[in-house]
Amino acid sequence: MEKKTKKNKALPFLCLLSIMRNEEEVEDSVHVPEDAQIIVDFRDAVSYAAGHFPGSTSLDAPIDRVRFAELPAVASCPPMTVVAADADLAGVVELLASAGYTKLRAAIAASGVDWLHPSMEKGAQSKRLWLPSPTLFLTPVVAMQTSKEILAIDFGCGCGRDAVYLASKGWCVIAIDNQQAFLTRLLIFAKRNRVSDRIHTVLYDLNASIAETLDMPCAGLWNASLFIFSRFFSPLWMGRVASNAQSGSIVAVHHFCKGATNRVGTKLPAKSCVSEDGLKDIFKAEFWDVIISERTLLPDGRPALNFLARRR
Ligand SMILES: C[S@@+](CC[C@H](N)C(=O)[O-])C[C@H]1O[C@@H](n2cnc3c(N)ncnc32)[C@H](O)[C@@H]1O
Repeated sequence: MEKKTKKNKALPFLCLLSIMRNEEEVEDSVHVPEDAQIIVDFRDAVSYAAGHFPGSTSLDAPIDRVRFAELPAVASCPPMTVVAADADLAGVVELLASAGYTKLRAAIAASGVDWLHPSMEKGAQSKRLWLPSPTLFLTPVVAMQTSKEILAIDFGCGCGRDAVYLASKGWCVIAIDNQQAFLTRLLIFAKRNRVSDRIHTVLYDLNASIAETLDMPCAGLWNASLFIFSRFFSPLWMGRVASNAQSGSIVAVHHFCKGATNRVGTKLPAKSCVSEDGLKDIFKAEFWDVIISERTLLPDGRPALNFLARRR
């Protein structure tokens, strides 16, 4: 562990290892600028407020893995500079490494920095790394809604980039995922954005058998105005939505098309990809009006389909 001993000198380079997570890991839920290097300050809130590096993010104690929910996912995390109290630094770095964050730019012990230097920022204000970032084409859906009591179902919600966004626009959201870690993360973000009262999370395996489905703790599912399948492809649940959704409700699908790869470059199997024809087969023209059906290329070059349809 390298410790910063000279005040306000360039940050020491610590280590550079690249880590990949599997394809089911949630992407894009943390917004950081293109050229970002993030500075995460693990000191207590009082020390942080007394002086901190400009543009840094405060993650004060207790230091545990849940706090890391506010960091970008490992695969998309920019080089990170970590600041911590001297006694905590090694533990923080170790904990970060155990969660996959080994790509640190620097690790700085608090005693080596002049926090009262004029170049330091003061106050509790901390840069937020995580902001709700909806699947882009949900924005017009939100604009289309006029009613106040609106409910969305987010299937395979992950950390809630769509759910938290919709809740921040006044929607109620039932957010379903089979990974408790993602739902926990979603709830942290919902709380941060002061919308936890509008989001109901459901830990549920959407591949469960029909018998188990009947026990699903989601009363009023089919009263929803919007059903989201964002990077979660489930012909089973899409079929159920197609049959049960009420007139006027909308289904929004954003998923990878044939030819897309996962994050480590392996081609997705055809059955995991959507196609326009496949979706039109589920959301049949006699019952559903297609509003948008467009192929798009994601910033990383992967082909995806945006599909929006309204129940007649
Ligand atoms: C690629 S992520 C997409 C997350 C989010 N919708 C988004 O667009 O950022 C896929 C999500 O589906 C969830 N998922 C996968 N299989 C599932 C299942 N059988 N039941 C419920 N959720 C599932 C994963 O846990 C993960 O959060």
